[in-house]
Amino acid sequence: MDSFAYRDGELFVESVPVRAIAEQAGTPCYIYSRATLEDHFDRLRAAFAPIDPLICYSVKSCGNLGVLRVLRERGAGMDVVSGGELFRARAAGVEASRCVYAGVGKTDTEIAYAIREGIGLFNCESEEEFENIARIARSLGASVGVALRINPDVDPKTHRYTSTGKKETKFGVDLERARRFFAAYGRDAHARLEGLHLHIGSPIYTVDPYREALEKTVALVADLARDGFEIRSIDLGGGFGADYESAQSPALAKYAEAIVPLAKPLYDRGIRFVLEPGRTIVANAGILVVKCLYTKTSGEKRFVICDAGMNALLRPSHYGSFHFIWPVAPGRDMTPARRALDPGLSGTVTHDIVGPLCETGDFLALDRLLPASVARGDLLAVFTAGAYGMSMASRYNSSPLPAEVLVSGSTAEVVRARESYATLVEHELKPSPLSLGAAESAGAAR
Ligand code: LLP
Repeated sequence: MDSFAYRDGELFVESVPVRAIAEQAGTPCYIYSRATLEDHFDRLRAAFAPIDPLICYSVKSCGNLGVLRVLRERGAGMDVVSGGELFRARAAGVEASRCVYAGVGKTDTEIAYAIREGIGLFNCESEEEFENIARIARSLGASVGVALRINPDVDPKTHRYTSTGKKETKFGVDLERARRFFAAYGRDAHARLEGLHLHIGSPIYTVDPYREALEKTVALVADLARDGFEIRSIDLGGGFGADYESAQSPALAKYAEAIVPLAKPLYDRGIRFVLEPGRTIVANAGILVVKCLYTKTSGEKRFVICDAGMNALLRPSHYGSFHFIWPVAPGRDMTPARRALDPGLSGTVTHDIVGPLCETGDFLALDRLLPASVARGDLLAVFTAGAYGMSMASRYNSSPLPAEVLVSGSTAEVVRARESYATLVEHELKPSPLSLGAAESAGAAR
């Protein structure tokens, strides 16, 4: 499914020309395709149908309410990692009971909020956190389901910043501790320890790490059963890849082919599965559109200076990530896939595609071929930008956050308005004095 395609020399999202969106919504601007979101979600569900998982879309990858609503309508639950993300999920109409809540640093306020909303499961990451969840649940007179996040000591072979399943990581507890964890907390009435959770990294392009992690999980389920603890749910996390090179839909079936045979016997025994995909659903469902403000040459280097860089899309600068970039109207019919297969195409010149910020690290791509004709005023599409694009955007250099647009067929709507200068300062206009009480008088006495 490719809802982002060049027709008659210009880029369309579904039936809408990107140029028309950029003219109205301005740049920088994220554009998402409903058809692609739906297609990715449906294909994921079909691939894993034999274990009928609750697919909890990972809100951190792209939390726009427009995107969340599309996925909720499709039947998605949500994976959240903060009170703010739970609030987003709820605002998009998702039942809290269909949400799972992970994260190593849940605050008391966040835990209480999630319990009051009726969270489906806490994915708990440490002993202290468990005790805190149990304490808060008790004080609220509640009983809440908890899954223990285990760290299966598997190398997902991805960027070290996003590798989360090796032994020494801040996430989860290792397998030896897991049994002790159940022995200590497995009978708590207010925090019912009944599931296992794992998320080993992101993105993961090979299936072996999943297979290895699941094998270890299956063994742990058996050990826990021997210890007298019955596991009711297993959350396999997210991390499935996206195709950044060709901007095509992700290859999902291979993950299912590796996971389902191991998971099915547990499913048949009544264990419920959860998946937490983010990137694989939304990465190729979104592009970032920027405008070329200037071109310039420094020494041998040719630059395209755009109206956004690392403020709108941090990934290239932060992880050295690759995003395919091509003009919105290159004047010829060419899909990103064809372009990727034909890197030596004539008429192209190597450029650094950079942003306007005052840092050398502010770039979208380095040493990248673009048509030699790229000029001031041209629009560029940064592909596969739907995941961890807007959700990691910042206001650095007081850059207002980009607009977000959702395309459905031949219609397009702004699902997040571009920020204004006024919104940049709205929380700073009225300083409000803190009442420091005792601390203030102690200071005065010194
Ligand atoms: N579940 C948990 C517990 C996670 O920590 C994550 C991502 C996911 C699910 C979703 O992973 P996905 O299916 O989207 O790969 N900012 C980085 C990615 C960080 C991922 C953090 N956790 C990037 O831009 O590549």
